[in-house]
Amino acid sequence: MIREKLEQDHPLSQHLDYVLEDADRCKNIVKNLLAYSRQSSPTKEAFPLNELVTESLRLLHDQRLFQHVEIIKELINFEVLIRADKTQICQVVINLILNAVDAMEEQGTLRLKTFITQDKKMAGFSVIDTGSGISGEDVSKIFDPFFTTKEPGKGTGLGLSMAYGVLEENQGRIYVEETGSSGTTITLELPVVTLSNEILFDSIG
Ligand SMILES: Nc1ncnc2c1ncn2[C@@H]1O[C@H](COP(=O)(O)OP(=O)(O)O)[C@@H](O)[C@H]1O
Ligand SMILES: [Mg+2]
Repeated sequence: MIREKLEQDHPLSQHLDYVLEDADRCKNIVKNLLAYSRQSSPTKEAFPLNELVTESLRLLHDQRLFQHVEIIKELINFEVLIRADKTQICQVVINLILNAVDAMEEQGTLRLKTFITQDKKMAGFSVIDTGSGISGEDVSKIFDPFFTTKEPGKGTGLGLSMAYGVLEENQGRIYVEETGSSGTTITLELPVVTLSNEILFDSIG
């Protein structure tokens, strides 16, 4: 932005270049640190998609946070296997649920939905809240490290950037499916395990 306002031969222009370069370097360092703080290669296993919901809720179960939150599970009614690092993905899901509860100021309806994509290649999981939504200008920033709209001490701004990295490492993706004044839907997708893949995996160990 400053770049656009400053003429190319302005005396400060060179300094600005250095600042921008440094900022870029910082971003890369943080990205690498975040990747390092997870394990370098995920431990993948095949497990049922719906377990993401049950396991994450089990880990969160006795939280007072949910006292005024109605939780609705909309689980796919046949077995879909996904291959991913279950611990990592459950951490992501827990983060999404806590973000949703924050956005609803601890009261509202939380829907947890599992599905498969039309081409049946990806398994999906959505966290749907009735919270305040994400403003237009913030939508593109929420996956950046340290981006937070929460007061100091409440948010680190690392949850979604970690989530982004985890999904990348697991050949999946995470995105804001919908957001507005009536709430937000954040969705993640992971590859479905197909029978031929499983046989292949088993035969090569
Ligand atoms: N479900 C949601 N509804 C509204 N805003 C959200 C939601 N999830 C994330 N956000 C926004 O994205 C920001 C970054 O989220 P995150 O990376 O988890 O960091 P933190 O929770 O520490 O702020 C939040 O501060 C909030 O502004
Ligand atoms: Mg968070």
